Amino acid sequence: MIESYLKQVGSCVEAWWQRYLAVDSASPQSPLYESMLYSLNAGGKRLRPALLIMAYNIFDNRPIDIAHPAIPYAAAVEMIHTYSLIHDDLPGMDNDDLRRGKPTNHKVYGEATAILAGDALLTNAFEIFFDPSIGVALPYERRAHAGFFLSKAVGPSGMVGGQFADMVAQGSSSDSKTLLKYIHDNKTAAFISASLACGAILAGGTADDVNRIAKFGMDSGLAFQIVDDILDVTSTAEELGKPAGSDELLDKLTYPKLYGIENARLEADKLINSAIESLEIYGERAIILREIAKFIGLRSR
Ligand code: IPE
Ligand code: IPE
Ligand code: MG
Ligand code: MG
Ligand code: MG
Repeated sequence: MIESYLKQVGSCVEAWWQRYLAVDSASPQSPLYESMLYSLNAGGKRLRPALLIMAYNIFDNRPIDIAHPAIPYAAAVEMIHTYSLIHDDLPGMDNDDLRRGKPTNHKVYGEATAILAGDALLTNAFEIFFDPSIGVALPYERRAHAGFFLSKAVGPSGMVGGQFADMVAQGSSSDSKTLLKYIHDNKTAAFISASLACGAILAGGTADDVNRIAKFGMDSGLAFQIVDDILDVTSTAEELGKPAGSDELLDKLTYPKLYGIENARLEADKLINSAIESLEIYGERAIILREIAKFIGLRSR
């Protein structure tokens, strides 16, 4: 059920940006667009766009097709996510060669183009939120509120701040569980939570709805990164589509490092249960979000 939902949302956002990002192949910036599309189309689970659509549909249930009013915003969050991966893999950061089963962006296009492809994906994503010709189906106030929420979550007080702390903690002798949770909450959970919150905001959810959905996202988002840490130890590059053992090589501060694999897994399970509880009030309408929370806890890629 979840796998087919992810595929369905995935093909909608892919079709959407294929058209949106099409440029004349003779134009000077055409190779930049090519590198952006290379990483976007390399695959990936499409988790964040699916979460946005799932949250949207709790409050305004629409069929999942290219005409769904939130598809451009779902595509925008995947553009931000893809930028974060391109930059995360750069030689100055995690220095990884494999992503989504393919050579990383900088391996194919060079470091300078990879940096610019990331910049372009990030900036363009927010252009989508504020483009009146894209947003005709949704009130401007909702798009502005969602864009504000999202920009906070992926900036210095969210994802970028978390990536910075992750980098500083690398190779240090810190055994601080508080710092570890700070890193994971910020580099990963904040953005996952904001993707969900954007769905609720765009669909006209109340402030209480947005808070509940965001809380679900913080818990399941932290669990998501704990599982990512565990898979980095227990899985293979073939299965993950990205290098395994990268965290140990870089001496990253991770849940397996401070808690051990077994306790890290228990921590993830606890968070998934807590996430699921926060959706009780939505009953049947949140079945799919409960399912995806379980998927996040049990995933193998
Ligand atoms: C990888 O995210 C980066 C983390 C936050 C752990 P995903 O595991 O969602 O990557 P894709 O999109 O499936 O490639
Ligand atoms: C990165 O965490 C989270 C991002 C904000 C991109 P990781 O460095 O653990 O992600 P992977 O394992 O390379 O996907
Ligand atoms: Mg990293
Ligand atoms: Mg990395
Ligand atoms: Mg990782």
